[in-house]
Amino acid sequence: MRRKLIVGNWKMQGALAQNQELLNSFFTERGLLSVDLAVLVPAPYLAQAQGQLQGTGWFWGAQDVSDEVRGAFTGEVAASMLLDFGSKFTTVGHSERRQRHGESDQVVARKAQRALDVGITPIVCLGESLSERERGETRSVVRRQLAAIIDLLGASAMAQTVLAYEPVWAIGTGRSATAEQAQEVHAWLRGQMGEHDDEVAGKLRILYGGSVKPSNAVELMALPDVDGALVGGASLVASEFLAIAHAAARVN
Ligand code: 13P
Repeated sequence: MRRKLIVGNWKMQGALAQNQELLNSFFTERGLLSVDLAVLVPAPYLAQAQGQLQGTGWFWGAQDVSDEVRGAFTGEVAASMLLDFGSKFTTVGHSERRQRHGESDQVVARKAQRALDVGITPIVCLGESLSERERGETRSVVRRQLAAIIDLLGASAMAQTVLAYEPVWAIGTGRSATAEQAQEVHAWLRGQMGEHDDEVAGKLRILYGGSVKPSNAVELMALPDVDGALVGGASLVASEFLAIAHAAARVN
């Protein structure tokens, strides 16, 4: 049985005072012990997240990591630095980074490796654009993105990762994938993993991301191959994020 994981991705949003209020409202909540919960904050707020969430059972982490270990890489943040502030997770390969920063599948794979090297769980984001879906390329796109990770990390190390299927057309648009669309791609991804290692495929958590909200969370979280959610906009509103977490806890 895969334990559900609900992750809030704040993206480039937040401010000290506002974060304090949001973080406080998370851990005072009871009744969510059957799911794993995490928030991914902008790097400057990692210390704040650590200060407020340590010892609460909630996890925190980052949204990106350098593919280098250390050195003259202005503006980049190393995995070891994320670990210094207790990060449990980091996303890699979010579509906003693939698009805006031209991150290739190979760079994303190296980032996942750097996170794993220090014991941080990479949440590897995959997903097709609207035009790729319309051309019927969804499977080939996510297969290519997944293959780059497996090639570098090796199949058995995939057990230490989390995947997040985030169709680009569903991110921030209010238009979530339907339950059928999400289940179909999640099952396909698990099948692809299974071709390398059946046991790892059975254990691998695959999150869904893209316009997850309280109104669609119950249906999405109940799908057999959906093991949680990567939540953007709704993770900035405590009541919405907690409602999504409760939806996952109910079906867990
Ligand atoms: P939204 O939930 O705002 O659509 O964002 C999804 C996302 O990109 C999470 O990483």
